[in-house]
Amino acid sequence: MAEPKRLYIKTYGCQMNVYDSQRMAETLGEDALGEHGYTETADPESADLILLNTCHIREKAVEKVYSELGRLKRLKAAKPGLRIGVAGCVAQAEGAEIMRRQPIVDLVVGPQGYHDLPELDSRAHRGERPIQTEFPAESKFDAMPRRHMAGRGPSAFLTVQEGCDRFCAFCVVPYTRGVEVSRPVKAVIAEARALVAGGVREITLLGQNVNAYHGTGAKGTLSLAGLISELASIDGLDRIRYTTSHPKDMAYDLIEAHGTCPKLMPYLHLPVQSGSDRILKRMNRGHTAEAYIRLIERVREARPDILISGDFIVGFPEETEADFADTLALVDNVRYGQSYSFRYSARPGTPAAERRQVDPEISSERLARLQAMLTRQQRDFQADMVGREVSVLFGREGRRRNQMVGRSDHLHAVHVSNGHIASGDLLKVRITGSAPNSLSGALVPG
Ligand code: SAH
Ligand code: SF4
Ligand code: F3S
Repeated sequence: MAEPKRLYIKTYGCQMNVYDSQRMAETLGEDALGEHGYTETADPESADLILLNTCHIREKAVEKVYSELGRLKRLKAAKPGLRIGVAGCVAQAEGAEIMRRQPIVDLVVGPQGYHDLPELDSRAHRGERPIQTEFPAESKFDAMPRRHMAGRGPSAFLTVQEGCDRFCAFCVVPYTRGVEVSRPVKAVIAEARALVAGGVREITLLGQNVNAYHGTGAKGTLSLAGLISELASIDGLDRIRYTTSHPKDMAYDLIEAHGTCPKLMPYLHLPVQSGSDRILKRMNRGHTAEAYIRLIERVREARPDILISGDFIVGFPEETEADFADTLALVDNVRYGQSYSFRYSARPGTPAAERRQVDPEISSERLARLQAMLTRQQRDFQADMVGREVSVLFGREGRRRNQMVGRSDHLHAVHVSNGHIASGDLLKVRITGSAPNSLSGALVPG
């Protein structure tokens, strides 16, 4: 029998790209294509096909891709049969430009074209350099086999919604992922069941604007809360999460679900970007700082121990020191348990890129101040967990001997040293220590 061909995928960007990379591996896998299929490898040197699944969200993300392609030149020179593909949001945004800038690239495929990968790969094999950046009418999901492959652990991502119609003035996502589309309820449930049958106990529902989900179901259209309630009835599925949400789409039934659905984990990632009403308006976010704070209060009424996580952009065009002070005031008010903060990066083709830019040194200085505050809040939240009993879903081995790492309800990484824990165990742990980005603890007997 011939040696199986090997596929190496390098993933950049958000969780949806992680999910997409898995689906690409499945679509190109031996289960789907038989002897023409690929097995995945963690070693690019041994690969016959290398795919870079790229992100376009900030400038650095794009430059990373081109420097990686630069490094791959050497591999390609040493192995002429090697094919290199660029997928993801840079592929969508740059298209043919990638082929021009980097002659080693054999195929380019945007996020809506992944079901065509086997065909694109054959064409690349014949020496064509195919580019697929169309937004086809049919759903790529229907045309892609889904299998939970061994070794992926007890937690899985599941895309339920893709694309975005919000057009925040800084963001490329509506251009790279297209208009907002929800997958039908039946398809989501079937995929969740397949994952659970494969040993998954925790599912994170993904969407660029996931709480805008409105999927067709047997009894009409379901909201995200409706979908979560359907998923909660699957035996063996113990935990449900969702990300990323927009404050404007935080519906009442979803807030309520945080109080009534025990499988829905006490974690909400709700980006606010800025605490200044003037900047929020220029960002086209569609809400005020006050409305966001009220929303958080309502979520906390439903689930008092919920961890709030957020995204922030500093140095958005025309941001003044007073605007930035409003962001610090909002952060002080909300108290975040987790956060992601970025210096504004002008993206070609987005409205904000044309406006008066803030001096990068000023943005960097503001970012440092904001991050200092957010880091303090994260530490406080973690310190508060010490002494508490939490449930942990264990996924992988830690660096130390006999150590396993899992995730708590609040998504904290928790390290426990105990030789009897297996991947997939959901166990009670008493937290004994807090490090900068993780907790440690001991199993609660019983
Ligand atoms: N779909 C998600 C994620 C968008 S990208 C959402 O709607 O929240 C993730 C984060 O990257 C954003 O929340 C924002 O904080 C940041 N981001 C997006 N575009 C950016 C830009 N041009 N410059 C800096 N940060 C940006
Ligand atoms: Fe981008 Fe999120 Fe705004 Fe959509 S809601 S445009 S994905 S930041
Ligand atoms: Fe990046 Fe595209 Fe995700 S731009 S953040 S990979 S949707």
